[in-house]
Amino acid sequence: MMATKVKNTETPLSLEQFHISEDYGFILPEPMTDLPVYYKPWMDIARNVPELISSHSLRLRIHDMPLLETHLLRTHRELRLAHLALSMMTMGYVWQEGERETVKVLPRSLSVPFCEVSQRLGLPPILIHADTVLTNWKKRDPDGPFSMENLELLLTLPGGESVRGFFLVTLLVELAAVPGLKSILDVINGVHYNDVAMVTKALDVVSQAIVSMKQALKLMHEYVDPSIFYGIMRIYLSGWKDNPSMPEGLVYEGVQEKPMEFSGGSAAQSSILHCFDELLGVQHEGNSGAFLRRMRDYMPPSHKQFIENISSRPSLRSFVLQKADEHLTHTFQQCVARLVDFRNYHINIVTRYITIPASRAKQLRASKQGLAEKLDVIRTAPTALEERGTGGSGIMTFLKTVRDETKETSISQCTIENQVLPEPSMTEIQKPASKLTTE
Ligand code: HEM
Repeated sequence: MMATKVKNTETPLSLEQFHISEDYGFILPEPMTDLPVYYKPWMDIARNVPELISSHSLRLRIHDMPLLETHLLRTHRELRLAHLALSMMTMGYVWQEGERETVKVLPRSLSVPFCEVSQRLGLPPILIHADTVLTNWKKRDPDGPFSMENLELLLTLPGGESVRGFFLVTLLVELAAVPGLKSILDVINGVHYNDVAMVTKALDVVSQAIVSMKQALKLMHEYVDPSIFYGIMRIYLSGWKDNPSMPEGLVYEGVQEKPMEFSGGSAAQSSILHCFDELLGVQHEGNSGAFLRRMRDYMPPSHKQFIENISSRPSLRSFVLQKADEHLTHTFQQCVARLVDFRNYHINIVTRYITIPASRAKQLRASKQGLAEKLDVIRTAPTALEERGTGGSGIMTFLKTVRDETKETSISQCTIENQVLPEPSMTEIQKPASKLTTE
């Protein structure tokens, strides 16, 4: 059932008013690479998180860290880099000894500035997609292309090249979405001006952008090793909400005595698919809807407002039904099918990077293996996360529900009166989900 909403038909929409870049979309353009010298104690630690974890000395270094004032951070870009640095240190501090020796308290020197910076940005005091992906990049050659070869991370976590691959491939998925993001405005304007051709053209750009996003997502296989992802990296992205290894959450010392709970970093916090869902009228309900809505609180507030603004506009789907234009309907159907296809491909990725290593880890734990197997990183992977995503969701049920809800947005043959849709797109949509995945 569609929720009854007051539709916003008047206010014109621009990307700029939501701090979205014409060239980079939700990606922070040219992130700052260093903070003012006063914050050297933070950056010295943040730049060495993997090494300090492997020598088991990160917690000690953080205990010795001075409590710094945050008012010297002035610009948005400075605050974003500070959030990234403090979040990397926080994840390292909490998970340094794996899931068995977690901490109950985040020390004051970290928790106080982290909460102050987070409050100024309207973000939660934990590592989020906007840190690790949107703020965490630099071009090696400033005039060179935005490509894997020419990009590097500002800060990293344990897992070596796979961490670089994971964050930068996700960055390329964000970049691939930009033309689609911009075309959302034209779709909305086209509906407003009752211009079928304009809507069709703009929707086709959205549809093509989803194809490019899938192409970029495929790079994950080339750059990220599933055992490293599962066995080493994942724990550092995990939060302290719905996580059995930190059932009480975390006390942010000097901020409040009661423990706080926050979900870990996940691309479910990327604003892209939230925008496309709202544009196409995909309805996420129940637990999965609640999880996705909660993820919006882990986005920069202006990006969340952009998503809400799209949702407040007159329904594109109703417009498509009402116009009953063959080309427009086909384009809409194709766009929905491509979004389903993207989600199916993502489910494949999750199977390769989480489900399969998780079942291998279970087998290895169950069997009495020798020293060689003990070295297998998968064997030491956190058990609390076997069934869950780093954002804390029950993974497969959640992802399949979200995929199926996307499928339900397509316009069924009987809904469209007096109209024959071109065969390929309809057959594509009606195929069972398992057959839709192209890999
Ligand atoms: C190795 C790569 C990846 C893995 C293992 C992975 C895993 C997951 C998991 C476990 C979830 C469930 C939510 C949670 O608890 O975190 C999720 C959700 C999600 N992920 Fe990924 N992910 C990967 C890459 C990406 C990339 C590159 C994107 C693109 C932006 C992406 C977009 C999403 C979205 C939008 C959701 C929310 C569900 C949906 O809207 O369909 N993921 N992912």
